[in-house]
Amino acid sequence: MRILVIGGGGREHALCWSLRRSPRVTDLLCAPGNAGIASLASCLPVDQTSVPDMLRVTAETSPDLVVIGPEVPLAAGIVDALQAQGTRVFGPTEAAAQLESSKAFSKAFMQRNGIATARYELCSTMAQVQAALPRFTAPVVVKADGLAAGKGVIIASTLAEAEAAAHDLLQLGGTPDSTIVLEEFLDGEELSFFALCDGTTAVSIAAAQDHKRLLDNDQGPNTGGMGAYSTDDLLPDALRDQLLRDVAQRTVDGMRAEGTPFHGILFCGIMLVPGRGPMAPDPMVLEFNTRWGDPETEAIVLRLKTDMLDLIDASIDGTAAQLHIKLRPDAAACVIAASAGYPNAPRKGDIIRGLDAPPPPGTVVFQAGTSQAGNDIVTAGGRVLAIGAAAPNLPEALDLCYATLRSIRFDGMQYRNDIGARALR
Ligand code: AMP
Ligand code: GLY
Repeated sequence: MRILVIGGGGREHALCWSLRRSPRVTDLLCAPGNAGIASLASCLPVDQTSVPDMLRVTAETSPDLVVIGPEVPLAAGIVDALQAQGTRVFGPTEAAAQLESSKAFSKAFMQRNGIATARYELCSTMAQVQAALPRFTAPVVVKADGLAAGKGVIIASTLAEAEAAAHDLLQLGGTPDSTIVLEEFLDGEELSFFALCDGTTAVSIAAAQDHKRLLDNDQGPNTGGMGAYSTDDLLPDALRDQLLRDVAQRTVDGMRAEGTPFHGILFCGIMLVPGRGPMAPDPMVLEFNTRWGDPETEAIVLRLKTDMLDLIDASIDGTAAQLHIKLRPDAAACVIAASAGYPNAPRKGDIIRGLDAPPPPGTVVFQAGTSQAGNDIVTAGGRVLAIGAAAPNLPEALDLCYATLRSIRFDGMQYRNDIGARALR
C-alpha cells in the first residue's frame, strides 16, 4: 500500500517509523516531513493550513490512504475534502474535530453528555467576564476558544489577573464574536489517555504522561511538551475501564447521536483529582484532542505491538471492537531536545552533531524541527529531536534516552533532566 502522511514533526516521524514496520506498507510519503522522516519516506512540500494544497499533493501522488497527523489540517476540514473525492483517510471530520478545535463546543458537549469536566462559563465581552468572575474563586483558568498551539491557556492566580488575561485573549481574537472560557482550576496529576474510535466504539490504546513546562521540577514557561513516558502502571485496569466507559465511549456515543460520528484518535487530557473519600481519584477531562499527542506518540509507538495500519483500518472501517491492541508490557520514554530560545523565539540553523552514530538497541532518535542544509542537519523549529527508548522498565528506558541525548549536541540545546522522575519516586 502507498500511504501519505500529512505533517512534519516528531509525532509524524514516529507514525512513519511505525508504519514502515507494517509488511503491508510498500510506499511511504510524507508532506511536508522533515530531515529525519526523509530517511523513511519521500518528503513533499505542502502548506498544512491549505486544503487545496493538501488535495494537490494527494492528487499528484494517488495514495491508497492518507493519515493526518496534526490538528490544523483536521480543523480545516481536510478529512471531509478527501472523503468527498473518494480518498481513504484516517482522522475525524471537521465537525468531529470540533472536540479539539473549539473549547466552547467541547465543554458544552461534555456537559450535555455527562462527562466530568471543570465548571465553566463562556464569555464574549468584558462585561460578561466581569459579571462571571465573582462566581469563581482563584486560581481561575482562562482559555481561548480555538486552536492556540498550547498558548491559549492561562492559569491566573487572582481574579484581577484572570480579568487581564481575558482582556488579552478577547483582543487577540480580534473579532466581535471571539469567545473565551473561564474555568474552575483543578488540582491533581495529569494523564494523557488515548482511545481509538471507529464512529461506534472506543477502545483503549495507552496512557502517557507529558511534561509541559520547559525546566526541571515543572518550572519555567509552558511548552508543547518536553518529554513523555508510557507504562502499564500509569493505567491500572480499573482506571482504564473507567476512562473508557465514562469518557471515551460516552464521547463516541454522544458524537454519533448528534450526527457527527467520531473516527480517529481521541486523546483525552485528564486530571486525576484526589477523591473526596478514600476512593481512587476522580478523572476529569481537561481537554480533548482529536489526534495523536506530541511527544506522547514518540513513546507509545515504541510499545505498540499491533500493526499501526491495522489500527488505522479498524478506525476507518468500524471494526475497532474486533481489534486487540497489544502493547509490550515494558516502559517507553522520550526526551525532547529543544532549540535555543524555545518556546518564545526558537533559533533556527544550528548544526546538529552526533546523529550519525547508530543509537543503542531499543532507542530511536525521532526528528521534529530539523532540516537538511547541505551535508548538515540543522535546527528548524522549537522542538528539534525526540529521543525515544523502550526497555523492560522505566529507569532503563530513561537511561537509554539520556545516554543517546548526551551523544548529540547543537548550540543552545535545551532539555529536561527529570522526565519520568515523578513515576520513579
Ligand atoms: P488544555 O489545552 O485545556 O489541555 O490546557 C493546557 C494545560 O493547562 C493542561 O495540560 C493543564 O496543565 C492546564 N489546565 C487546563 N485546564 C485546567 C484546569 N481546569 N485546571 C488546572 N489546569 C488546567
Ligand atoms: N502533548 C500534548 C499535545 O499533543 O497536545
